[in-house]
Parts: sequence; structure tokens; C-alpha cells
Amino acid sequence: MKKHNIILDCDPGHDDAVALMLAGNHDAINLLGVTVESGNQTLEKTAFNTLNLVQYLNLDVPVCLGVDSPLIRHVEVAEKIHGESGLDGYTFPPLKKQADKRHAVDFIIETLENAKEPITLVTTGPLTNIALVYKLRPDLITKIAQHVLMGGSVGSGNVSAAAEFNILCDPEAAHIVFNADVKRVMVGLDVTRQVKVLPEIVDRMETINNHVSDLFVKLMRVYNANQLKVFGLPGGPLHDPVTVAYLIDPTLLTLTHASCTIDTSKGPSYGRTNCDLFDYLGEKKNTYVATGIDGTKFWNIIETTLKRYN
Ligand code: BDR
Ligand code: CA
Repeated sequence: MKKHNIILDCDPGHDDAVALMLAGNHDAINLLGVTVESGNQTLEKTAFNTLNLVQYLNLDVPVCLGVDSPLIRHVEVAEKIHGESGLDGYTFPPLKKQADKRHAVDFIIETLENAKEPITLVTTGPLTNIALVYKLRPDLITKIAQHVLMGGSVGSGNVSAAAEFNILCDPEAAHIVFNADVKRVMVGLDVTRQVKVLPEIVDRMETINNHVSDLFVKLMRVYNANQLKVFGLPGGPLHDPVTVAYLIDPTLLTLTHASCTIDTSKGPSYGRTNCDLFDYLGEKKNTYVATGIDGTKFWNIIETTLKRYN
């Protein structure tokens, strides 16, 4: 099987943690490194969480810390969903893994520079690190096979009527990223809301009974309790792992090639991803927007990957 060489840029985060579980142990994926930014919590906390996860999953990859704030906006974390730590629900063993000395942006640039084969960027947080890479080294964009991002929504948002969290964290960065000439796959709320990690799914993964399924189950129970409080949902949408699952099995998603722009107007639609699925405006199609997902395939991918940690 030809592997995707990927860099995962994230802000763990309960669903980021599951994305890392998939990226860290699958024949289709060669994980080159993990980069972190502020998002679900402050950078200090998301960095701590990432190091804990990488150590717990026994992954031999660098963890590089990136930006601690958006380009223009102030930091706004998602504490009500992910808790005070950003990853409430699990007590990890003492942390020995240390962050790599390189800044996330430098690490991504260096990896692209040295790449003999194209690199896939997977992002499950705000787009600030990636925007800086694109601004600093536009010449390296040709080294990117594709950028698969969790973010945005054709329909309604989850932090305003119009905007999804990762995009609203840094709409200006998202604007830069969506203007780059890269094959881009947008995994937005339209599909992630179709894969809710309902209690019966959590129970199903519990029967796997290894140390990673244990982590999954404990994290998801806290995630679901918070989703119930905030959104009244018995099972939260498991957003971030849809990106990696798509790389594992590209038939997972239905994609529509469309023009997609970011609202940076600072009005009520600030941070909205305007996806012109019906090509009303005839603008250049710049993004493959996920418009459908096969839920059965998705949960099977989660299950088989968790079992690989036996
Ligand atoms: C996105 O926001 C974060 O809270 C999640 O980790 C996910 O990346 C969903 O809107
Ligand atoms: Ca995330």
C-alpha cells in the first residue's frame, strides 16, 4: 500500500486525540511529525496534551510547537467542550517526551524542503501555522500533495450562526490558506455532524479492551457529557479524525469541487466558509468540499485502527 506522508497540525482536543490515534498506527499513513498551536486551549495546554498523547501511543515522531495566538484575533479557547486542560478525562503516566526544539513553522518548511515525495498536510485546528508557512515559503507549495483540513461548514456554524470553530479562531489565516494553489479537501461540519460518537459507539469501542481503546472511551465519555451540556447532543460529532480516515479510505467522503472563500468582514458572518456548491458565481473552484460521508465505513476505520494497538 502506498503511504501518505503526513504532517498533522493540531490543538488537542478530544477529537484531535482520535485523529492522532488513526495517524499513528495505520498502513496507509506515514506520520512525519506533529505540530501544535493554540485552539481548543492555550498553546501551553495543547502542547502538553500532544506530548502526552504521542508518548502514550508510543509514536517516535517530533512534536513541534507553533503559534500561541491567531494572526489578528485574540485567543478564544473551547473550554466548555474540551475542559480546563483541553483534554479532560484521562490521567496520563508521567510525561517524559519533550517538544522538538524547532518551531512548528520551521519544521513544516524544513520537511517540505527535504521531501523527495509530496507531503500531505492534515490540519485539525486553526490555520495559523499553515498560513505562515504559505506566506514565508510560497515556493514550497508545489511540494504539498494535498491539504486535508477539518474546518468550516456549508451550513450553519458551531460557534456562531455562520462560523465553525477552527475557522473563526483565525479567519485571516484561513483566508490565506484557502487562497493558496494547493489541492484542498475541506472536511466541515456538514459531514462531521453525521458521525456522532453516540454512547453505543463508545460501548462498542470499549469491547476492544486495550490501552488505546481505554483512552478513547474515557475521553469520549467526557466529550459527550460536555456536548450534552452545550449542544444537547447525546453524542458529539467526532470532527477531526474524519480527515485521517479519508486518507485511509478516500471512498469515505463524497466531495464537491467548488469555489470557497472565507468571510473576513467582521460582521455576523465573520469566519464563514462560503462554498459555492452550485457555482452561482462562476469563480475558480479552489476546494474539494466534503458533502457526504459513509458512517459505517468511518466507525469501522476507528475500530480496526484501535484494535491495531493490541
Ligand atoms: C473543531 O473545533 C474543535 O473544538 C475540534 O477539535 C474540531 O477541530 C470542530 O469545530
Ligand atoms: Ca481540533
